[in-house]
Amino acid sequence: MKVTKTANSRLSTIDFNHLGFGAGLSDHVFICEYKDGAWGEGEIQPYGALKQGLGLHALHYGQAVFEGQKAYRQTDGTIAVFRPEKNWERLNKSGARMLIPEIPKEIFMEGLIELIRLDSEWVPRGANTALYLRPFLFASSEFVAARPSEEYTFAIVTSPVGELYTQPVKVKIEQHFTRAAQGGVGFAKAAGNYGGAFLATRKAVQDGFNQVLWTDHAEHAYLEEAGTMNVAFVVNGTLLTPALSDRILEGITRESILTLANDWGLQVEERRISVAEIVAAAKDGSLQEAFGMGTAAVVSPIDGLGYEGEIFPVPSPNDGVAMKVKNALADIRYGRAKDHYGWMRHI
Ligand SMILES: Cc1ncc(COP(=O)(O)O)c(C=O)c1O
Repeated sequence: MKVTKTANSRLSTIDFNHLGFGAGLSDHVFICEYKDGAWGEGEIQPYGALKQGLGLHALHYGQAVFEGQKAYRQTDGTIAVFRPEKNWERLNKSGARMLIPEIPKEIFMEGLIELIRLDSEWVPRGANTALYLRPFLFASSEFVAARPSEEYTFAIVTSPVGELYTQPVKVKIEQHFTRAAQGGVGFAKAAGNYGGAFLATRKAVQDGFNQVLWTDHAEHAYLEEAGTMNVAFVVNGTLLTPALSDRILEGITRESILTLANDWGLQVEERRISVAEIVAAAKDGSLQEAFGMGTAAVVSPIDGLGYEGEIFPVPSPNDGVAMKVKNALADIRYGRAKDHYGWMRHI
């Protein structure tokens, strides 16, 4: 692999004691191009401008998908990535829906690992920090006609991050906007899903919430997911989470948490969950916890549900299911506990 190193590292400009989320991008990128029906040789370059002009297909037609994953500094100082094959699989699943050619596993994994090795000093050391990894695939032909691109680019950028939410979040049960419809692209990590969500999120924030809790497109009567998190509820000791559909992103955090919960012998139900049932449980006190699950948000307790102008408080106990799974995942990810599931890929 060709590697061109930067002559001007920006590492010293990052305040590792006050990492936000996603602002400082690391020194290098991995990039690989698809032309004439085949992927070329990947290479590592200094972070910089794209070489394409404003006819860039992805900007006009949105043929663009991405991933979000993390590399963790281990207690012994080494680095490991959480379940990277899962992100590779999901990137191609998203790509297939958007008619983007599959990125081979070797290119994805080698690019990811070599990039982390080169920018290893960007992997932070503080509590709850990580190097966020953003692999993405986009249409890179230059023409303005509504048909699929002929050329594509696979790239990876990285960014040292802290926690997305440091406090429990309040979510608004959405009754007007729709994130995804049956037969659409909700299950794909397609760029436009996020652009399309920003207005609803802005309105929820103006109403005093942190995020939108999306409901189904047909009736706004069933709960789906929240912002960039899958959601779970603990009702009468049972862990409930909406069943996957082609409207919901299949979260890797969600799947990992369900694995832990099943192994711990918790009662778990993946099924359709109605707004009415959760609001009733919040009212009668049987809703013991609610939380979001995602790479960026990790496990975020939800302490309030907004519905039809009212806010229903939800307990967020320190010794509940959310904190138990959060700690168990962190112990595996930072190398404090044995990785029984073989989830960590050591660099
Ligand atoms: C819409 C959406 N749902 C759920 C998730 C959680 O997925 P994961 O746990 O794989 O990060 C994400 C984040 O990637 C997301 O963007």
